[in-house]
Amino acid sequence: MPSGNKSLRCGSQTKQLVIDTANFYMEGVGREGINRTELAAQTGEIEQAQRRVQDGSRNGLDAEYAALNLAHEMSAQLPQIRAMAADLRRHQDVLVIGIGGSSLGAKALQQAVAPLPPTAGTPRLHFVENIDPYFLQRLLSSLDVESTAVLCISKSGGTIETVVQFLILRDWLTRQLGQNTARRHQWVITDPKSGWLRELAERECLPSLPVPPQVGGRYSVLSAVGLVPLAVLGVDIEALLQGAADNATRCVNADITSNPALEMAALCVLLDTRRSKRTAVMMPYVNRLQLFVDWYCQLWAESLGKWDRARPGSTPAGTLPVRAMGAVDQHSQLQMYLESRHDKFFTFIELETCEYDLPVPLDDFDAPHFPFLKGRSLAKVIDAEFRATRQVITDAGHPNMTIRLPVLNAHVLGQLIDLYQRATIYAGLLYGINPLDQPSVEIGKRLAIDYLRGTPR
Ligand code: PA5
Repeated sequence: MPSGNKSLRCGSQTKQLVIDTANFYMEGVGREGINRTELAAQTGEIEQAQRRVQDGSRNGLDAEYAALNLAHEMSAQLPQIRAMAADLRRHQDVLVIGIGGSSLGAKALQQAVAPLPPTAGTPRLHFVENIDPYFLQRLLSSLDVESTAVLCISKSGGTIETVVQFLILRDWLTRQLGQNTARRHQWVITDPKSGWLRELAERECLPSLPVPPQVGGRYSVLSAVGLVPLAVLGVDIEALLQGAADNATRCVNADITSNPALEMAALCVLLDTRRSKRTAVMMPYVNRLQLFVDWYCQLWAESLGKWDRARPGSTPAGTLPVRAMGAVDQHSQLQMYLESRHDKFFTFIELETCEYDLPVPLDDFDAPHFPFLKGRSLAKVIDAEFRATRQVITDAGHPNMTIRLPVLNAHVLGQLIDLYQRATIYAGLLYGINPLDQPSVEIGKRLAIDYLRGTPR
């Protein structure tokens, strides 16, 4: 429990996420919550979803849900991952080209758990994700080509945003270093067999690592896609995988009382389908989780926002994920949450143990103005703000849950990643849709190519 006393809080023994769903239920939040009998009536579907995940997870990296096996399977590839990271670390700057699932996970974990200040010898990592000529030009003009490495990450090996930026960077390297030397500044992570990037890597003998074919972009942070950039940054990738493995162990039962991912998924789906909650707001009270929420938004939106093709005309699945930051968005979005439509549910994330805390100093002039701050610290203030916001959200009748992180480290983030990947897959199965594909996005990609050809329909 956060308090002003840092030494007390640092004594926390448990390192497991605390997942508190009480306010998703009627007894916590009133009639907008889920009735336990209503949930019990779904037992058949819930058990079936668990069986599907269990069956679809057999066969390691060849499994349908191979993403859920990465925590165990990737340990065999750690030597190659560390070797690639060591080569990249010989540079001052590393440009990571990739978009969506090929970028967001590593970005989120960099912000959450990369050592700060960076340990000696850690390169600066630049994520080249969106296409923005101004950004790329400014970045290139600030780099010394001799000490710059380019890591291109694309599962399909043909995503247009990634391809064009890699082409530009290859040209930038080649013009200044010559073709042979330029090749020694390029690394690739892509499908082991197919795609332009794989062909290029083979033709030019660029060092490369595979993305397991069964693992889609937004589920790939625990593969080389996330692990290589994170190893470059000095993140403890073994602890990350261990955290994910520990959460997987926690989520094996078909009984929702002992499988938090399954319970979260079942409740989120019921809140949508039975209570018309169409928006899923995630509100961490931790700055370093801002990009984690972006990662979650992609995972949740791209996996669940679709209709059941087997049942034309059925209501489409999915709740719109929205990021709100505590305490900042109390001064921005909260008014709407309290008075506008009751079509939302909330997930709060709080941090139990802050590595640093700052007491609030009060002199004789300040003390009478803020008597309630006497003896308080910043951690105590943000904790009070979190509690107050959760209470007004609950009092307004909005279903909400809280995830409490014992500390912010790679092991805890590994748990959180596995929890959300698992909950997303369960939710997809409960909706009756495929949480692994993104069929409509593909249509837009093809159309963009038609625009480039000059032949849009
Ligand atoms: O989750 C997904 O599948 C997407 O967000 C992809 O990660 C994104 O489109 C990039 O694809 P690729 O890694 O093939 O370049």
